[in-house]
This record gives sequence, structure tokens and C-alpha cells, in this order.
Amino acid sequence: MDRNGLARMPYPLVSALSSGPERTVRGYHPAVTTFRLDQSDNVRTKAERDTILADPRFGTVFTDHMATAVWTEGDGWRDHTVGPLRPFSVHPAAAVLHYAQEVFEGLKAYRHADGSVWLFRADANAERFQRSARRLALPELDTAAFLDGIEQLVRVDADWVPAPDGEKSLYLRPFMFATEPFIGVRPAREVTYCLIASPVGSYFPSGPTGVNLWVTDEYVRAAPGGTGEAKCGGNYAAGLAAQLAAQENDCDQVLFVDAVEREWLEESGTMNVFVVTRDGELVTPGLGTILAGVTRGSVLALAEDHGLTPVQRRIGVGDLRAGCADGSITEIFAAGTAAVITPIIGLRGKDFDLTVGTGKPGERTLALREHLLDIQFGRAADTRGWLRRVV
Ligand SMILES: Cc1ncc(COP(=O)(O)O)c(C=O)c1O
Repeated sequence: MDRNGLARMPYPLVSALSSGPERTVRGYHPAVTTFRLDQSDNVRTKAERDTILADPRFGTVFTDHMATAVWTEGDGWRDHTVGPLRPFSVHPAAAVLHYAQEVFEGLKAYRHADGSVWLFRADANAERFQRSARRLALPELDTAAFLDGIEQLVRVDADWVPAPDGEKSLYLRPFMFATEPFIGVRPAREVTYCLIASPVGSYFPSGPTGVNLWVTDEYVRAAPGGTGEAKCGGNYAAGLAAQLAAQENDCDQVLFVDAVEREWLEESGTMNVFVVTRDGELVTPGLGTILAGVTRGSVLALAEDHGLTPVQRRIGVGDLRAGCADGSITEIFAAGTAAVITPIIGLRGKDFDLTVGTGKPGERTLALREHLLDIQFGRAADTRGWLRRVV
């Protein structure tokens, strides 16, 4: 087994489809089966794990197990298993490889000081996974099955949840992809669900010291009626060229604007964006073409505890330029599960270079960040019932 925990044998998941009668109705099959545990007899040693957990970085190492289930039209979901982490064996004609019929999620399990392990708003991820699946014409996995797979995986790999130290946590990646082998554009009749887990530290190596964003006028992420609200792999593939452009312009990430007027802020590559005004508003773009971030919703809910009025409305690039120049915009930050709350200290575009506030992380930003992390790590009261104990 290597550092990434891959056992040598491929995972024999993808079957040939049975040649049953053609089904015209894509039924919704509630998953009633719970995940069956097939414990790995080839897990990494405590010493190997401790070395990895001392500096997990982000998204580079994976735990010893994975959860899987298979859906076929007609029979619905079956074979729910939490078993050893293994590579897949897929047919070269698997629909996902050609038509990108895939959706995913991202959430974290947090270890508290007393050793217990908790999920943060996992039901919201389950619901978003269902919305994404509907948009990509994939079958839905119901909330009970989504949560059961996560809880069983976290329990069997509980030793992989890092001790609370900075932002260290266990990142969970549920995803679903079209495995039916066929050439032709239509929804696949065989789909695989999988859940993997990865111990992580900070998403941005610079952490809360702040990042610079490149406001692209070249690429758009989403248009009305498109897939902007779905968490599908294709959105991210289409954003990579913009991310490269950001790096070429010495920025950490890209900030997209709307597809129609090329003026209104949308979101960053993997985060929603927020603006704090001198008047005490916390403004974020409304939904429609952006991802409905779980962190976004949580930050809006916490705003009033920080003396801020949460507002969802359009923010123009012109508003940003004027507001940063005259001081009516005091702070900008981005929010997402992976990067928590990240201060944005600079914004650059083809013909502008803005410093936000003092060019240092803002007070309100850091206070919201601490508050959110304190709830997630059990240091502040969870008055909204956002946490769910797993271990
Ligand atoms: C494009 C995009 N926007 C926003 C977010 C933030 O969403 P969440 O807070 O649910 O992680 C993410 C992260 O998943 C993302 O990929």
C-alpha cells in the first residue's frame, strides 16, 4: 500500500448492464439499505498515520476505507458498502469519461477537544447533492443513505480525524458518476456513488493572512439556466483556465462576474464572496448562478451576532472599485468549507489593482472566522443545531 492508501487490486464495481426491457421513466429509488461494513485488513500503521497527520496538507492523502453504492435504472440503489479504499476499474466507454455526468460534495468532520467527532450541517450537503444530481440527470441519494455512509466511514476511519490543531479536520468527498458504458448523449442507466475521506490542514498555505483575487473579464463560470448552482465537475474543469490566468497575474484565485453584463460579482473558484460595508452591512450576491454554499448560509446566519446586517444583493465591479477607493467597503472575504473564511486583501483586473481596507485581514472577517471555527470545533455553543455527533 502506498502513501495514498491505495491497495493494489482494482475495485470490481462496474458491471455490464443487463439487457432488460427499456425503461422510459427514470424512477427515484429511495435507498433503504444501510451501508454494510467490509473492514480492510490492510490499514496503515499508527506510525504511518501519525506522520501523515502531523502535516496532512490539503487533499493529498486518503484514509483506509471508502463507501460505494451502485444505481441501475429499474433496480435503484444497491450494494451499499464501506470497504477498503481501492482504485476503480471502469469501462473506457463509461459515460462520465465522455459526457462529464458527475456531481460531488465537500464537507468536514471535526474532532473536539474531548476526542468526540462531529459533522457540520451534513444534511445541507445531502440536500445540495440531491439538487445537483437532479440538474445533471443523475439519480438522487436520499439524505438517510448519504448520512449513513458518511457516519460509517468516519467511524471506521476515526483514527484519521486529526486532533484539533489549527484548522485540521477530515475532509469528506461524496461523489456520483455515470458508469454505464455507451457512446451517445442521454442520462446513464448505471451510476456509481462513492465517498472518500482525506485528513486536511489549511486550504491556502497562507491561511488567514489573506489572498488576492483576479477578476476575470475573459472567462465566465455560469450563465442563467446553466449548471452554476450544481456542484458538478464540469464547472470546475471550465474554471481551470481562469485559475491559471489568476496565477499568471500573481493572484491566488479567480473571481468570476456574471455572464450577461460582465459586471456583477458571482463567486470565486471554490468560495462564495462577501463584502463588509462601513455602514455595517454584510453583502453577498443572491443565488441563481452561484453555488449555494453551506458556509455562505452559515455566515449570513451569524452576521447579526457580529452587529452586521446580512444582505443578498448584486455587487458590481464598479461598486467595488468605488467602495475600496472611498472607504465605504471596509472588508471583503470568501467563504467555503475547504478554506473556511479567507480574507481578500487585494483585487486585480485588466485595468485596476485594488487594495481592500488596510490591505490586511479585516476585524469583522477574523471575528466571523473564529466564531465559525469555534462552533465547528465545539468551543462555542451550537445554538442552531448545526453539529451532529458521529464518534
Ligand atoms: C464554486 C464554489 N462556490 C462556493 C463554495 C462554498 O460552498 P460550501 O460553503 O458549501 O463549501 C464552493 C465549495 O464547495 C465552491 O466550489
